[in-house]
Amino acid sequence: MKKLFYVDACLREGSNTKKIANVIIDKLSEKYEIETVRLSECSFPVVKNDILNERNNGYVPEEYVAMAKKLAAADRLVIASPFWDMSFPSALKVFFENMSLFNVTFASTDKECYGLCKAEKVLYITTRGMNISTGDDLEQATPYIKALSKLWGLGELHVISAQNMDYSTEEQKAKKVNNAIEEGLKLCEEF
Ligand SMILES: Cc1cc2nc3c(=O)[nH]c(=O)nc-3n(C[C@H](O)[C@H](O)[C@H](O)COP(=O)(O)O)c2cc1C
Repeated sequence: MKKLFYVDACLREGSNTKKIANVIIDKLSEKYEIETVRLSECSFPVVKNDILNERNNGYVPEEYVAMAKKLAAADRLVIASPFWDMSFPSALKVFFENMSLFNVTFASTDKECYGLCKAEKVLYITTRGMNISTGDDLEQATPYIKALSKLWGLGELHVISAQNMDYSTEEQKAKKVNNAIEEGLKLCEEF
């Protein structure tokens, strides 16, 4: 069975992003073996001088290397994350930094970096409080994920989103979640 690496960066109890992602991941589990990392249950360290020194001396904790290897080897990558401060939560950025390991997720010639990740398709699932669409200048999560995809060698990025959540009634929110689920389930057929 092909493998899918799932990064659950939903940090809030009752997360609407997670409601969408749960159904989509459930569907994708029919086609893929899922490896899940739930950032609400993890404590990845902020990368600072001590970690950089360790890396320069050839040391990275074995569990992070193992996780980054799984990420790099996965056939698909799914990221579920709410829209925070016009991007995604720092927990996700810290996760990316811990997975961005030389000779695991990316490498370099003497002129430029290139990716080592295998996933040809990436799905980013999100919900936004304000009425901001994917690709809007104010939306700084998708551009980052695209840029990281370049560094890591990841393929085509798909985005499933719901927006204006914080200015919607409970009924409207539920409808937006359901619409995103429907869109996601359709995407699953070709993902
Ligand atoms: C810490 C925090 C920061 C947020 N920052 C923004 C923001 O900058 N722009 C925005 O549109 N919504 C923002 N929101 C609202 C969330 O994007 C919105 O409520 C989203 O649906 C939350 O997803 P969740 O239900 O999966 O937690 C923020 C929410 C929180 C808790």
